[in-house]
Amino acid sequence: MIITIDGPAGAGKSTAARLLAERLGFEFLDTGAMYRAVAWACVDRGIDLKDVDAVAETAAGISIQFEQDRIICNGQDVTTDIRSAEASHAASIVAAVPAVRLEMVRLQRESAAGHRYVTEGRDQGSEVFPDSECKFFLTADPQERAERRLLELQNRGQSESIEEVLTQIIDRDERDRSREIGPLVKADDAIEVDTSGKTIEHVVDFLEQKSRERLSLLRL
Ligand code: DC
Repeated sequence: MIITIDGPAGAGKSTAARLLAERLGFEFLDTGAMYRAVAWACVDRGIDLKDVDAVAETAAGISIQFEQDRIICNGQDVTTDIRSAEASHAASIVAAVPAVRLEMVRLQRESAAGHRYVTEGRDQGSEVFPDSECKFFLTADPQERAERRLLELQNRGQSESIEEVLTQIIDRDERDRSREIGPLVKADDAIEVDTSGKTIEHVVDFLEQKSRERLSLLRL
């Protein structure tokens, strides 16, 4: 059983997906962290992100492990490094490389096979797990998404202005929506949830209720 949660940056997907997985006793897969890890590995190897072949080669040979709350890439703990504004920008560039997407999608399907997973990303319901029994698409007003991102960055001791964060979010959404493979798109059968002005508890309560309805319908 796979539950997918897609949506633009800052819509609250990661927190919601993590909490939903905990409540249901499912595993949680943060697929954005995988693209961030690829970007980190490219920068670590000194690769020019415009060099599509070198980026693809890096993705093909990458090792990504999730250990509790830590993300280990090629043997190094990159949990903090992959969350910087630079890493976000780099991740959205490598995520547009078709060979990178093919490899990440392969890894995502491989890890989820035979497991109960809540997966979170941009293309999970539309492309990676089209047969998922339960799909959500989270959105929120861009200004609110920028405020949430800013708070996250500040909690990590990074400083940016709200204007900068808003511009980055709008740019990133545009790149995510306009790429040819695996664009950010709501699957036809996904339930859309506007999280603007809602607390995370309220959002997760709704996701949990809908997921449990699906689980009991499917008797899983
Ligand atoms: O969710 P996030 O901000 O950690 O994602 C980082 C980047 O990776 C973002 O630009 C979108 C991209 N991404 C993607 O293309 N497909 C996914 N399934 C998840 C993330």
